[in-house]
Amino acid sequence: MKILVTGGAGYIGSVTTAELVQAGHEVVVFDNLYQGHRQAVHPDATFVLGDLADKAALAQLFTNHREFEGIINFASYTLVGESIQNPLKYLCGNLVNTANLLEAAVSHGVKRFIFSSTANLFDAPARIPIDEQELIKPGSPYGESKFFIERLLHWFEKLYGLRSICLRYFNAAGATPTLGEDHSPETHLIPLVLQVALGQRDQITVFGHDYPTHDGTCIRDYIHIVDLAQAHILALQAVDELGSQKYNLGNGLGFTVLEVLEMARQITKHPIPAVAGPRRPGDPAVLLASTEAIRRDLGWQPRSPDLATIVGTAWAWHKTHPHGYAE
Ligand SMILES: NC(=O)c1ccc[n+]([C@@H]2O[C@H](COP(=O)([O-])OP(=O)(O)OC[C@H]3O[C@@H](n4cnc5c(N)ncnc54)[C@H](O)[C@@H]3O)[C@@H](O)[C@H]2O)c1
Repeated sequence: MKILVTGGAGYIGSVTTAELVQAGHEVVVFDNLYQGHRQAVHPDATFVLGDLADKAALAQLFTNHREFEGIINFASYTLVGESIQNPLKYLCGNLVNTANLLEAAVSHGVKRFIFSSTANLFDAPARIPIDEQELIKPGSPYGESKFFIERLLHWFEKLYGLRSICLRYFNAAGATPTLGEDHSPETHLIPLVLQVALGQRDQITVFGHDYPTHDGTCIRDYIHIVDLAQAHILALQAVDELGSQKYNLGNGLGFTVLEVLEMARQITKHPIPAVAGPRRPGDPAVLLASTEAIRRDLGWQPRSPDLATIVGTAWAWHKTHPHGYAE
């Protein structure tokens, strides 16, 4: 298939692009490099520098590269904390940017759309693991913006026949030998912990030690980046038959912050000092995905569910790329 990947220079987008190319698809990456890295884009993918806010750039993209058979939309503002400081950047920015893309997509006859949604839709889950019936209660303007887009996609199917699959990711983590996580600022636990092992940070702060979990720290569901990428390829292949769907996408396994820290100590052989900090507002005790629906409908199954592989691949990449994609 000929696929447009927006945000394909970013962490998840670059790995998905590489997996798509390896599976024989033709990929065009559209990214404004706001967070992404040109070097992360697979050499066999076509790169187009552009911003979803720029309707003229989108019109040019769809005119120059006719007949996309599917779109995977990773491009987004992504920081929960920033969205609390600057809600309109997210509530309006993410919504309008995606609306621009959708408008261009339907006017050029695109019928398949895969969307990066988030576990931040579930601020106060009633049941663990979290399944697709869970009440949506976004934990931040970031999560709310993703929910707005899920609703937009509902109407685009009803009115224009655009079929979509929303994948609500839990915590993307790990790396391939050549592609890894290089965000600025970095807010994710595993790269932050590894920065301590690299000597780039003195210590890590563990926020909250009194959660109702076995060691008092938050439990999160870490999914290996290649397993996450594979779910997009399966979703593209299945969307015609399944119609529009929403899936929670994690490993289905939870690890506490202290367990991640301990695994990173074992793998890096560095003591990684940690200090206790207060709970952060809006951090639920446990976020753990039910993987039943995505396994059943897409035949997806994680190949690297174990924490040792997730942290080990991330460490291998950070060791060989101590300054990320910068030389
Ligand atoms: N990383 C996670 O654990 C996680 C969890 C849940 C959801 N998500 C979602 O997955 C997607 C990818 O996340 P990521 O961690 O790879 O983020 P990322 O920041 O590494 O990648 C996003 C990419 O989109 C590009 N981009 C942003 N705004 C753009 C715009 N207006 N026009 C064109 N390009 C633009 C950035 O330059 C970047 O390359 C995001 O939508 C994010 O909200 C990520």
